[in-house]
Amino acid sequence: MRDSTASPVPTGDRQPWDVEDIDRLLARPARVAVGRVGEPPAGRPLIGFTAGVPDGETFPVEEIGRAVDHVLATEPVQALEYLPGSLHGLVELRRLVVERLEPEAGLALSEANVTITSGAAQALENIGRTFLDPGDTFLVEAPSYRGGIGAFRGAGGVPVPIEMDGHGIRLDQLRTTIERLAVEGRPPKLLYTMPTFHNPTGITMPLERRRQLVEFAARRRLLLVEDDAYGDLRFRGDTLPSLYSIAGGLGVLRCGTVSKTIAPGLRVAWVKGQPALVDALVRMRFDNGTSAFLQRIVCAYVNQGAFEPHVRAMVELYRHKHQAMDAALGEHCSSYASWTEPDGGFYVWVTLPPGVDCVALQEQAWDEGVGYFLGTAFYTDGSGRDRLRLAFSNVPIEQIPEGCARLGRALARAVAGRA
Ligand SMILES: Cc1ncc(COP(=O)(O)O)c(C=O)c1O
Repeated sequence: MRDSTASPVPTGDRQPWDVEDIDRLLARPARVAVGRVGEPPAGRPLIGFTAGVPDGETFPVEEIGRAVDHVLATEPVQALEYLPGSLHGLVELRRLVVERLEPEAGLALSEANVTITSGAAQALENIGRTFLDPGDTFLVEAPSYRGGIGAFRGAGGVPVPIEMDGHGIRLDQLRTTIERLAVEGRPPKLLYTMPTFHNPTGITMPLERRRQLVEFAARRRLLLVEDDAYGDLRFRGDTLPSLYSIAGGLGVLRCGTVSKTIAPGLRVAWVKGQPALVDALVRMRFDNGTSAFLQRIVCAYVNQGAFEPHVRAMVELYRHKHQAMDAALGEHCSSYASWTEPDGGFYVWVTLPPGVDCVALQEQAWDEGVGYFLGTAFYTDGSGRDRLRLAFSNVPIEQIPEGCARLGRALARAVAGRA
C-alpha cells in the first residue's frame, strides 16, 4: 500500500531558467543567429512588405475542401495512417510531380527520382544532414534565403558566400573561391542556389550562365542544390530550363514546393534527383514520413484539374502587384534608391543610398507605417546594411502605392538626417 504520509517527490530548484542557462545547452549551430530581425512596435498598423508568403485571400479554399471530402470518402484509412512502405512519399504524388507539377523537358523521370518532404524547408534540412559533416564548407549565394543557410548550418556546415550580379551567382568568384578553399584543404561539397526568381533579389539566371554553372559543377563533382520555390510564378519572359534538366538529372537536387503556388499550410514539397541521391536523402529521414493525409489532398486537388488554372490566376495577380510596386517605387523612391525588376516570384530587392542603413531606417519606416525585411538577414557575414527586401505578394494591391509612399518618406527623412 502507498504511504500517504510520505513526503512528496523532491522538486529541486523551481527557479525560472535564465537565458544563459538555455544558451549553455545550445548546440553550436543554434548559437549562430542569421541576421536578427526586429519586431515592429505593438499596436501600430503597418503596411507589411515583410513576409514572403502568398496572398491568403486567394487560397483555393473550396477546391481544397472538395479534395479533403474526396480523400475522406474514398481512402479514409490510408489517409489517416502512416504511409506504408517507404519514406520516399506517396507514389501517386511522386508521379504527379514528374508528370504535372514539375515536368523536366527532355528527361524521362519516374517516382524513383522524387521524394516528398514536409515543406521545402525539410528538404533543405534533409539535404544538409545527408551531405554535410560538421565543419564541411558549403557555397551559398550572397545574399541567400535564410532558411536554406540555417538548414545547412544546422547540420554543422560552414557557409562560404559567393557574390551575385544582375544575372545570378558570379562564376568568376565561384572559380577563385573554390581554388582558394582547395588550397586551404576545405573543398566545398555543395552549392545552394536559387537560379529562378531568387529570394531575396528576384533575379533570374539566364540560360548561358545556367549552362556554364552546370558544366563547372559537374566537372568538379560539386553537388548543386537548386531551390525552385517560385519557379511556377513567372509573370514575364520565357520559361528557362532548370539546372536539373540542363544537367540531364545528374549531380543536382531540385527542390519544389506547393507553398507559394497553393498554400504553405499544406507543408507538401519534394526533392528531385538521381535515384542514388534521393535514396541517400531518405536514409537520413527519421520523421515517419510526410503526412499521408496532406499528400493525398494535394493529389486530389491536382486531379480535380484545379492546380493549373489556380497557378495561372496567381501569376496574373502577382504580375499586377509587381507592376503596382514598380510604378510606386518609381514615383516615391527613385531619388533615393534603386531596385531589381523580377520576372516572377514575390520580391523586389532595394539598394539604399550611400550612408543609409537598413537597420537604422527601420525605425523611421515603422514610424511612417511600413515594414520591410532587413538586407542583413540574407547574408552570412554581416553585410547587407545597404539593402532591403520588399515582398509584394501578400499586401492588398490597393495598399501597395501607399506602402511605397511611406517608404519614400522614411528614405527622405533618413537622407535628410544623414547630411
Ligand atoms: C527560397 C525558398 N525556399 C524554400 C522555402 C520554404 O518553403 P516551404 O514552405 O515549402 O518549406 C521558402 C519559403 O519562404 C523560400 O523562399
